[in-house]
Parts: sequence; structure tokens; C-alpha cells
Amino acid sequence: MDKVFVINFGSQYTHLIARRIRELGVYSEIINYDSVERILTDDSVKAVILSGGPRSVDEIDAPKLERDFIEQLRERNIKILAICYSHQLIAYLFSSEILKGIEREFGATNFEVIRDTPLFSGMPSKFRVWMSHNDSVKEVPKGFIHIGRTENCKIAAMESIDGRIFTLQFHPEVGHTQYGTRIFENFLRISRVRKDWNLEKIIDEKVEEIKQKVNESKVLIAASGGVDSTVAAYLIWKAIGDNIYLVFIDTGLMRDGEVDEVVSNLRDLNFRNIIVINAKDEFLRALRGVNDPEKKRLIFSKVYVNILKKTFKELNKKVGGFRYLAQGTIYPDRIETGIAQKEADKIKSHHNVILAHTLGLEIIEPLKLFYKDEVRKIGKMLGISDRIIKRKPFPGPGLLIRILGEITEDKLRIIKKAHRIIEEAVKEEQFYDKLWQIFPVLLDSKSVGVIGDRRTYGYIIAIRAVISDDGMTAEFAKLPWDFLERIATKIVNEIKEVSRVVYDITNKPPATIEYE
Ligand code: XMP
Repeated sequence: MDKVFVINFGSQYTHLIARRIRELGVYSEIINYDSVERILTDDSVKAVILSGGPRSVDEIDAPKLERDFIEQLRERNIKILAICYSHQLIAYLFSSEILKGIEREFGATNFEVIRDTPLFSGMPSKFRVWMSHNDSVKEVPKGFIHIGRTENCKIAAMESIDGRIFTLQFHPEVGHTQYGTRIFENFLRISRVRKDWNLEKIIDEKVEEIKQKVNESKVLIAASGGVDSTVAAYLIWKAIGDNIYLVFIDTGLMRDGEVDEVVSNLRDLNFRNIIVINAKDEFLRALRGVNDPEKKRLIFSKVYVNILKKTFKELNKKVGGFRYLAQGTIYPDRIETGIAQKEADKIKSHHNVILAHTLGLEIIEPLKLFYKDEVRKIGKMLGISDRIIKRKPFPGPGLLIRILGEITEDKLRIIKKAHRIIEEAVKEEQFYDKLWQIFPVLLDSKSVGVIGDRRTYGYIIAIRAVISDDGMTAEFAKLPWDFLERIATKIVNEIKEVSRVVYDITNKPPATIEYE
């Protein structure tokens, strides 16, 4: 299988580049700028793409590559596409000066092709591009040709004379750039990469691989009902049948009716060994009086792990033969790029390994190479119903991070009701499929209201609805006012403790999607 490596210099868009390439039918993998040696010994690599990044190339500790490394890629005829920061890095490595803050540009601008090049083949000579840079390239280095400019950035695109290196100041990977996909397609054609990234074939290989590896032993998985853990469990079930055991822990922090729904979904998939643990009281007890968001998360994971350990011990005593702990970890969970991820996410993979270790098990992560949309496709190919595949993401700690401040039974009741009102209303709406998530958050402060002639003092609910490709960046959804008005009215009418509903209009970044 041919491969394109995306070399990461810390851009928030690195995953987006890798996904664009995969969408075009080519396997792509992210690699950090400081561990690129592997590329030179991998015969399946046909091209590399260098990401953007937040630094200036002439800073002493800025992430860089050796000029010699670029030359070695060239010798091996591995084509290079350098984006934004890397456009400057290439210029810098080939002895061009970098201008600081003189030609800065942020947002959409007009780009003009000034020289015929296969990179822009089949495209008009002028199109809109997305820019985000402080520095710029001063002059075209020796061995390169100037191929494009924008209003404010003279050297916005270059090509090496031998046609093996292409550099762009703008971001072809973001949706705001016109013909971005076309540019990647042209680059793949120039690189003579075969489009042989075929999920169907990979599923068969994965099932076979799991079968060989696990053999007759048993596998434990902590199921959440979410897409990732369900698809991971089902893939393993296809390989080893009823030797997979699913443990589902009811934390009391899920939405109304969710536990029954998840368990019935899992039963419909023919899993025979599903163990449901009711641990509501344990979670509530441990979280009593705790306000701090990080502490809340920490307590949650401690209680969760303890219950899982206890359940596993009992299970192992009863049936025995366990050797593996399976996880629904997906590619973005493992590979960190530019955006600061939550501490909890950063150490997720590491935690899994420790957890498996304390249970005396080895870890298997059958989805660790895939993006969310690929996981959904795999699930669909395996025959999992849309009811599960199209489920919106719901965080592991559940309502814990949607109730700000201390968790109490009253607050849980309020947020669950608000969730139900929103979900019932939104499912009827055409825009529902386009939303990444929509949910209420119960704020930790109160406000005055007036109901009838009486002044009230009640909770504030914030509604969060976002559009996103992968949860790493998101924009708030511009929902119709009449829909928002309807749910706000319903929430205040039906939940007497709530006096006010507000709509969140921040994007990510700078805000996160969840509140804690
Ligand atoms: P943030 O709030 O980081 O959320 O912008 C990005 C996506 O991740 C989900 N999320 C979590 N999922 N455990 C999870 O399993 C968590 O602790 C967690 N925190 C956030 C969030 O719902 C969104 O889709």
C-alpha cells in the first residue's frame, strides 16, 4: 500500500491534511518533525506533506528539518508539498531570508497563479485561499521558481526547478480555500501515488490479524455505547466470537434512558457476554462536595477504574482465560498535533496501557489507525445500524462535565430534563445531521427571572451546538431563532428551577466544546 507521510510542525490543521489525503483514497500517517528518519527506510512512501506550525523559522529552537534530509527525499524521488510554516522553512533551508510581520495575512484572500505548474493544473488562474501567517518569504531561493502570489504576499507559492518540491503559503487543507482538494489531487498525481487505501480490504485484514493474535484467549472491553468502543468490540467479535466480554458501567451520569438504550443496542448486535454494573451511588458519593473541574475528572476516572478492576477480578475468577484489554482508541486520540488537548485526552493512551498492566492484560486497539469518519464507515460495512453509527459523541465522564460545580441529585435531574427537551426537539429538525453535538450545560450561578407576577431566582442553562469535522476545531451552529426560542421556552416552562436560557456563540478555538 502506497503511503503519504504528513510531517507535523505543530499546526492545528495537521490531522486535517492527513484526512484530506485519505479521503482521496491514499493512506496517510502523521509523523513528528523530530522523528522523520523512518521515512527514508520505508519503500511505500511516495510523497510527504510538511504541515504548518505556530513558530517562526528563524527562532533558535523552532522545529526544523535538515537540508540534507530534504535532499535525500529528493534523491529518492519522494515529492514534497510544504504548507505555510513549511513554505518558509524550505525557503530558509535554501538560503532565503524571512520577513517578519511585514506581509502578515489572516483569513481569506485572493491568490493568483503566475506560472504554469502541474500543481494548479485544471484550476483557474485566480482563486480564494485561506492565509494565517505573520512572516513571509523575502526572495525565491536559487533552484526554485515563483509560481503564485496574493495581494499582500508576494511569494505565496514556489516550485523547485526539478519539479519535486512545491511550497504554499496558504492552507489548501481548510475548507475556506477554493480548489484545496484539487491541489492535493494534483500533488498525488505528480507523486504517482496509487489510490489503494481500501477500508473493506483492511477490515478483512484486521479481523484475520485479531483472530491470529487472540487465538483462544478472552478479551475484555469497557463499553460505553459510543461509536468507537462499539465498532471496536464488534470487529473483535467478528474475529473471536463470544470470547469478548463487554463491561458497561452505569455511572449515573448518562442521559435519561441511555443505559437501557445502550444495552439494548449491544444485545441487538448479538454480543452474548454483556455485564452491566450499576455504580450510580458510588460515583455520586465520591463526587459529593467537589467543585474543581480537574478534581471531578480525576475522581471520576479513579472510581471508574476501581469498579472495572473489581468487576474484572470477579469475572476472571468465574470464567478465566483473559489475556487482552480492548480499547476503542482512534487515530486523533493517539497523535497529538497543534491544538492543546485536554490533559485527560493527552494521557488517555498512556493510561490505557497502565490500566491493562494492573489487570495483567495486554492492550489491543483495533481502530488506532482510523479517523472517526472511517470508524463510522467500518461500522457500516460490518452491518452495524445507523442508530449506533450516527450517534453523536457523548463524553466518557458524561453529565459530570456539563454540570458546572458540585454534582448533586437535583442538578442531575435538571440537566437530564433539559437534555431530553433539546433532543426531542432537535431530532425533528433537518439540520440535526449537520450538527456535531447539541447539548445543555447547567451553569454554576443563578439569575433573577419573573414568572407570573413573582420574581424567581433560578439556574441558568447554556445551550451549546457546534458544527465540526472531528471535534478538534468547531464553529458554533447558527441555529434558527425560532428553534432556539422554542426550546428556551420549553426548558423554562418545564423545569421550574431554571430561570434563564442562553446560547453559546463561541468557536473552538478559543473555547472548547464542553465546559469543564
Ligand atoms: P472539547 O471540550 O475538548 O471536546 O472541545 C472535544 C470533543 O471531545 C469530547 N470530550 C470528551 N470525550 N472524554 C470523552 O470521551 C472526555 O473527557 C471528553 N471531554 C471532551 C467532547 O464531547 C467533544 O466531542
